[in-house]
Amino acid sequence: MFVILSLFLFYKTNPKIDGVLAEQREVIENHMKGYVFHSKLNVSNLKDLVLEEGGQPVRNLIVTTWRSGSTFMGDILLSHPGTYYHYEPLLDFGIKQIRHGEEAAQAVRNLRHLLDCDYSEMEHYLRYGPSHPWLFSHNKFLWGRCKTSSDLCWKPEFLSPFCSLFPFQSLKTVRLRLNLTEELLEDKKLGVRLLYLVRDPRGTLQSRRHREWCPGKKDCDDPETLCEDLIRDYITATVFRRKFPESFRAVRYEDISFNVFNETKELLDFFRLDFHPDIQKFLQTHTGRNKGGVSSTFRDSKAAPVHWQKDLAWEEVQRIQGVCEKALRLWGYELAEGEEHLRSFRPVGRLEFF
Ligand SMILES: *[C@@H]1O[C@H](CO)[C@@H](O)[C@H](O)[C@H]1NC(C)=O
Ligand SMILES: *[C@@H]1O[C@H](CO)[C@@H](O)[C@H](O)[C@H]1NC(C)=O
Ligand SMILES: *[C@@H]1O[C@H](CO)[C@@H](O)[C@H](O)[C@H]1NC(C)=O
Repeated sequence: MFVILSLFLFYKTNPKIDGVLAEQREVIENHMKGYVFHSKLNVSNLKDLVLEEGGQPVRNLIVTTWRSGSTFMGDILLSHPGTYYHYEPLLDFGIKQIRHGEEAAQAVRNLRHLLDCDYSEMEHYLRYGPSHPWLFSHNKFLWGRCKTSSDLCWKPEFLSPFCSLFPFQSLKTVRLRLNLTEELLEDKKLGVRLLYLVRDPRGTLQSRRHREWCPGKKDCDDPETLCEDLIRDYITATVFRRKFPESFRAVRYEDISFNVFNETKELLDFFRLDFHPDIQKFLQTHTGRNKGGVSSTFRDSKAAPVHWQKDLAWEEVQRIQGVCEKALRLWGYELAEGEEHLRSFRPVGRLEFF
């Protein structure tokens, strides 16, 4: 608390920061004109959701792993007005999964700081940023400011008050395993909604092969390691579904992609967000035909998630299935039985929780 207060005092005395904040406040107010608040939010006024006004923002988390459709989901959230997007805040942990121990404690602590717009004690994260700008570049409002005022960009005395202007705080992480999020779900004051996004490991692994940072990293390119995580996450998901029926949901990337419009509507409702015209426009322009490169979300949304069926060699599919059978079955995916079957079958079956 003391830290936040002293930050406020500091930025109050910095006219450049004051100017940027005033401008941004106005931009947000304009974007939010006529916005219909979700009935579950029980708010009538924007101020109720704004930290700098003493309100509590709407906090939504996506938890997943690399190449599981989260770029697409993140872009959907980003199309919603008034959104501050914490894009993979655990980037500075490297190409690894965070499962337990001191590292897990540190990771959850960092997420809490960011969800509270408290950039104090985030030195490692902020030092990592300037040489890895994608830490911020997906956060479109922040990045716009960074481009025009690069001297402010990585400074807590700017970031904390800037973040505190936004009524919607969205965050996605691809490094944190699901069981570590329990204390965030339990925190009534944070009031998070958490979406666990899962994808067929055959599709995930196929997609990861195209990333130069992945090969040689066990947490990234080893099928057995990935599928062990998917099994543990499944067990956690069955517990969370009962324990947090309002605030936790697990969904498969393929199910969203096969029925983008309706599924997105449903997920936004879960997140207590409006199916805003900007999001509908985003969906219309991004889910039609293939355009753009490998990391583009301009794609045929029905074909993209099962493209691995055509791209992977049968031997590779066999190798993955050999260690992933249990994970595949739990998450409702079908096994390919031979090369011919692989090229024509429907890999996505029914997902049943118990
Ligand atoms: C909604 O807000 C009003 C006024 O702040 C409060 O009295 C009421 O208990 C809230 N309702 C719920 C369901 O939280
Ligand atoms: C989460 O799961 C890991 C195994 O992946 C385990 O070592 C760790 O203790 C668990 N942590 C919590 C908080 O449940
Ligand atoms: C989407 O939802 C609408 C309205 O609820 C329904 O009529 C339509 O059949 C749904 N489409 C699909 C593909 O599920």
